[in-house]
Amino acid sequence: MIFYFTGTGNSLYAAKHFDKELYSIPQELKKDSRKYKADSIGIVCPLYEFDLPVIVKDFILNSQFETDYFYIVMTYGMHHGGCAARNAAFFEQAGRRVDYFNTVQMLDNALPVFDIEEQKKLDPEKKVDEHLALIKADLDERKHYIQPAAKEEVDFYEGYKAHAIDYSASIEKPRYKVSEKCVGCGTCTRVCPKGCIRVAEGRAVYEYTGCIGCMACIHACPTKAIGFAVLREKNPEARYRHPQIRLAEIIQANNQK
Ligand SMILES: Cc1cc2nc3c(=O)[nH]c(=O)nc-3n(C[C@H](O)[C@H](O)[C@H](O)COP(=O)(O)O)c2cc1C
Repeated sequence: MIFYFTGTGNSLYAAKHFDKELYSIPQELKKDSRKYKADSIGIVCPLYEFDLPVIVKDFILNSQFETDYFYIVMTYGMHHGGCAARNAAFFEQAGRRVDYFNTVQMLDNALPVFDIEEQKKLDPEKKVDEHLALIKADLDERKHYIQPAAKEEVDFYEGYKAHAIDYSASIEKPRYKVSEKCVGCGTCTRVCPKGCIRVAEGRAVYEYTGCIGCMACIHACPTKAIGFAVLREKNPEARYRHPQIRLAEIIQANNQK
């Protein structure tokens, strides 16, 4: 049994390698109470700002899991910053045992930091399928493992925390804006896991409250009408969805209507 969250399909692609029984976290969060029982329970999701997305932490901390084997696999783009070791400690404090915590490097979809076209060129050297197969073998043999925080990853994380652009200041304001290119198709409203976008008078209206910054709406917009309000993008013309994940699957996973 796997619970997954995805903005652009990488984590769903990864989850499909590990198990057939997949449940979307945004859909599960609609339930009043959540109690799950299975031999093995996994969480597969993207890494945001070197951490678990808030929607995933919310789900884990507010659900009950009865299982012999609890694991987390996070997909990330360039640097995981030692998130497995850091978060394993967080879960221990919260009284949630984690048996296995690993990461897999995939394409980085963070538009203010990377040009997706450049990212695509790096894809072959990330050897995604090979790494997914190794993780699958670990999970099949119920391996106990928490990915250690390599020094260069910790240094990268500490450096980011100390010197990076003030991302938090930029997200105090609405993150995204909708341009006149919007045709009111409503795709953004269906891929948003928090129901932050609606269409009014033929145009998307973005409500900041509750937005978790997953960029699913920006990447899925067919006319590239949604962009950042404060941060600049490396390439406003480049958008991404995992090539083997259909738009309908992202909608099914995230739709809040
Ligand atoms: C808000 C946000 C923050 C991100 N932060 C990081 C990060 O700290 N390190 C990293 O390597 N990748 C980061 N990424 C890239 C994603 O983790 C990566 O592309 C992931 O595979 C996307 O998964 P998805 O397609 O399932 O949404 C970030 C992406 C977003 C949207």
